[in-house]
Amino acid sequence: MKNYVSIKNIDDLPKWVEEARSLKANPTAHKTLGDGKTICLLFFNNSLRTRLSTQKAAINLGMEVMVMNFGSEGWALEYEDGTVMDQGTSEHIKEAAQVVSQFCDIVAIRAFASLSDKVKDEAELVLNGFKKYASVPVINMESSVGHPLQALADAITLDEHNAKERPKVVLSWAPHPKALPHAVANSFIEMMHLQHADFVITHPEGYALNQAITQNIPIEHDQKKACENADFIYVKNWSSYTDYGKVLNQDSNWMMTSEKLGKAKFMHCLPVRRNVVVEDAVLDGKQSMVIEQANNRTYAAQLVLKKILQNK
Ligand code: CP
Repeated sequence: MKNYVSIKNIDDLPKWVEEARSLKANPTAHKTLGDGKTICLLFFNNSLRTRLSTQKAAINLGMEVMVMNFGSEGWALEYEDGTVMDQGTSEHIKEAAQVVSQFCDIVAIRAFASLSDKVKDEAELVLNGFKKYASVPVINMESSVGHPLQALADAITLDEHNAKERPKVVLSWAPHPKALPHAVANSFIEMMHLQHADFVITHPEGYALNQAITQNIPIEHDQKKACENADFIYVKNWSSYTDYGKVLNQDSNWMMTSEKLGKAKFMHCLPVRRNVVVEDAVLDGKQSMVIEQANNRTYAAQLVLKKILQNK
């Protein structure tokens, strides 16, 4: 594997999960694999989990880590070819990606969707710009349309807590005051396409995700009905995809409660707004897996780094 930019880069999910769990059991088993190697983490947006877990993963493999908050500290990048750069942008992705490649062996990028221009967001200008012009492998730490490191961590967490041949898994939209991207939901759905599970998505009218991603998955607009007898309920807000980037609904009846959760395990990628997305009783209860999900981010990232280093 050269790059890890999408769930599509996973060739065998059960094997990946098994290997990640083995890394979790012995995180420093490959301590010399990354000797003399450097990863550069470029953040165009904020992060807690992704930043620290990817650093921890690299450290576990003996790598050096460089981190840059590119969004606030880097030059404004240009992505179009042939542009007369006499406006706001100062450096072209062509130079930036090649220069970064000279300083590291792997580059990891976080660059969220703008939520104002669907065409540009889906073109993944930042991630694809680095993929095109960098001479080192590229990892997606959440792009406009995907968060494959989160989804891999979620697959590990599901595997650790699942006792059934075919569990019922629900992805439920929840309210949020701000417009949020679709990346986490998209990658979770793509990952669920690779699972043996009864998978249902529930959201209000107007919140249908990209149908190319949700195809063949049942959509239920009655959240309570969708959650009945669930084994796992993954809660996430996303803004409208059809009315791109808009907040159409803030109905607090969609907040996840203990009553709707029933006996299911609760999942969320974090950060989460308490008593808006999910009530305290759920987050503080024994069925919440959110801290373990965040912990598993390290082993998802470590597996990806290990595969890339072994491929070099
Ligand atoms: N879940 C996740 O990606 O968290 P951060 O945005 O804090 O990295």
